[in-house]
Amino acid sequence: MCGIVGYVGPGHAPEVIICGLRRLEYRGYDSAGVALLPDGAQRLLVVKTAGKIAALEKELALRASACAGRCHLGIGHTRWATHGAPTAANAHPHLSANGRIAIVHNGIIENYAALRQRLEDRGAVFRSETDSEVIAHLVDACYEGDLRRAVAAAVEQLEGAFGIAAVSPRHPGLIVAARRGSPVAVGVGDGETIVASDVCAVVSHTTRVVFLDDGDIVAARAGAVDITSARNLPISRELTHVDWDVGRIAKGGFEHFMLKEIHDQPRALADVTRGRLLPADGATRLSGMRMDAREMARVSRLIIAACGTSYYAGMIGKYLFEDFAGLPADVQQAAEFRYRNPIIERDTAMLAVSQSGETADTLAAVREALRKGAVVLGICNVVGSTIAREAGRGVYLHAGPEIGVASTKAFSCQVAVLAMMAVAFGRTRRLSAEAGRHMVNALADLPRIAAAVLERADLIRAVAEKYARARDFFYIGRGYMYPAALEGALKLKEISYIHAEGYHAAELKHGPIALLDSEVPVVAAVPDTPDKVKTLGNMQECRARKSPIIAIATQGDAGAREVSDDVIEIPPCPEFLSAIPVVIAEQLFAYHVARARGCPIDQPRNLAKSVTVE
Ligand code: G6P
Repeated sequence: MCGIVGYVGPGHAPEVIICGLRRLEYRGYDSAGVALLPDGAQRLLVVKTAGKIAALEKELALRASACAGRCHLGIGHTRWATHGAPTAANAHPHLSANGRIAIVHNGIIENYAALRQRLEDRGAVFRSETDSEVIAHLVDACYEGDLRRAVAAAVEQLEGAFGIAAVSPRHPGLIVAARRGSPVAVGVGDGETIVASDVCAVVSHTTRVVFLDDGDIVAARAGAVDITSARNLPISRELTHVDWDVGRIAKGGFEHFMLKEIHDQPRALADVTRGRLLPADGATRLSGMRMDAREMARVSRLIIAACGTSYYAGMIGKYLFEDFAGLPADVQQAAEFRYRNPIIERDTAMLAVSQSGETADTLAAVREALRKGAVVLGICNVVGSTIAREAGRGVYLHAGPEIGVASTKAFSCQVAVLAMMAVAFGRTRRLSAEAGRHMVNALADLPRIAAAVLERADLIRAVAEKYARARDFFYIGRGYMYPAALEGALKLKEISYIHAEGYHAAELKHGPIALLDSEVPVVAAVPDTPDKVKTLGNMQECRARKSPIIAIATQGDAGAREVSDDVIEIPPCPEFLSAIPVVIAEQLFAYHVARARGCPIDQPRNLAKSVTVE
């Protein structure tokens, strides 16, 4: 949720760090800070501000004289508050009392209260309310001239999740980073090294990245890294080539990342299906699953674990596996899964769906399933992310970096992957080659379908602006459109702050219909599917309570038009994939409502892109 960037090399560290923090600002953004070691200085220069990176940059400019000279080492942080309000004092980096150690931290230290008490008893003076500050004091208490050893000794005493980077004025060419539960990536460039919590901050400098595993400690020097275990044993980690070019992390002429990412969908859907569809065989090839037909045929139950938007994609997955593979599938909120005593029988497989591959609850569900002996497949976007690595197999989305906090293109690609998996499992069971061919051809057509929805962006904007002042919304749907309704409501809540609820169209009668009146619009996901007629009936019921009705319907559908005040048309699409065009329309609708209300779309209040705490 927070972001870490550290730099050591020939470049000007403040510049590199600020640029990296900007790339991470989407993850957490209520305060930020840097600790820099200007060449020849005996003390670290620490600058921290509440608010966005721009505020930090301004403050750094005011201190220009202190950091204008050469400076080749530093660490920076952008924070999403957990312990303590988003103030400058609570912002990272945190210093030990003598200024000898500065640290930045992502995650939560669960035993911080006990550690703080112990350190205070020994005379340490704390300056913040954070859990993180104990790390600085603890590293200092363990320091005997070797920063790496001091960090190793300190992390042994920490409980909870962390990614940490530490620097000291006594070691002008060194950053020490450690990881347990919170990602740390190290970019190894030509004579320079960047330590970061997210590859986005690295790729403008180098595409050569080492991903730390839990328990790793890295000593990063300019152009070189040394990884050891907490017990000081050397560890070798593979160097991964990350081919995200910087252009794909920029807005590309769009006003917001979210809008750019919505418009990315035809490309993303082409990339996610590329090389994976085998029309002649009516089959799909997902080599990352590393399962042969026999192994797939043996799977008797699927558990889909995910959070947020990924959970709604997972719900669609459940329908796909049941409809096309005859495979029982449960979709579970990952946070629930980890605290129940889930039954995992032999031949149960888990699909962990996560854009970031770092969501704490989903990761915990993966670990629990692995512990119980299940086959776990990751469906992740971020290459090298923790879930992808720990699952060891799965399918990447290839959607490219998703920066806007509200997930858009990842959802469409998750649904496409789940449909391809349903074909793969289905073909080891009841799905015929002919039926598989039909599905594969429909999957190949997704980029065109997505582009056709985007062509109607102006109309969707006009409808959104008409309803932008409403205070409550309901979204309804049935079958595949039920998760689509839930996702539509979530998008609106996330970025426009309007109260919105997604409901099964038939469930509305069991309570929420009491809330409907002329001030409460209802968005009905009602493309041309077998249960459309029933949803049309439910729309009539809402209309009878005077709710304005906005239908998302197949183009030319007179029946839907008749019961609606406004219609957003989508192109014809087979039912099993229809959530994709419907949700794209909902994404544009939510975007334009939020824009009309002047909301900060890419960084909505209180939300973070990657939720790495429980
Ligand atoms: C956060 C994000 C959502 C996302 C959810 C799950 O809440 O704001 O957009 O759907 O986490 O994230 P994941 O990376 O696991 O898909």
